[in-house]
Amino acid sequence: MKTQMLSSVGLFAASAVAQAVLNSGNGFGTLYYDVVDVNGCQDDFSNQNLGFVECNFFTGLSLDQMNTDNVVAMNHTLLAGDLAKYCGKKVIVTTNGVAHDLDLFIGDGCARCAGGPSTNTVWNPDGAPGLDFSFTVAQQLNSNACFNGHFDLSWEILDETVYNFDTNAPGQPTGPVNQRRSANKRSERDSRRRL
Ligand SMILES: *[C@@H]1O[C@H](CO)[C@@H](O)[C@H](O)[C@H]1NC(C)=O
Repeated sequence: MKTQMLSSVGLFAASAVAQAVLNSGNGFGTLYYDVVDVNGCQDDFSNQNLGFVECNFFTGLSLDQMNTDNVVAMNHTLLAGDLAKYCGKKVIVTTNGVAHDLDLFIGDGCARCAGGPSTNTVWNPDGAPGLDFSFTVAQQLNSNACFNGHFDLSWEILDETVYNFDTNAPGQPTGPVNQRRSANKRSERDSRRRL
């Protein structure tokens, strides 16, 4: 019993540092909206910003209503197959060898990101693996994102919810998850007493 308790404490400690990876890959980043910089990338995103995100499609929630540029769109087929698994989960993107922790999260589906083989390394606007971002975030990931229209990246979707969507349980409140850190003082005291 004692061994079991110790190992579960170990698991808890590990999960606070590194979450399980739900999905990862290499491919291409693109951009499709921006609620902060509506006219970024010599474009007018106002129509795109009105679109309902796939993670909240049934009760309706537009990018404008979410009012954040941190929504990321992923492989539409994979997302549609299990909304609850991916929606609101944290995304870490790596470009040019740098892993960016920009508080990004899955919120939408990307049709291009579902087409062609998942191992495709050649850009194809009709189908290539990857993710789709806001203009503002894409520019942070690669300063030529707007100019070139796409850029190389790799990604990890972590099992950590940073945004709550009303996905599979209609009526759930939506919005960012409060970041709370609870120091586990009690179990620290308990383990000291056990010695
Ligand atoms: C998208 O996801 C589907 C379902 O898992 C998969 O069959 C397909 O290969 C993926 N497409 C890409 C480009 O990764």
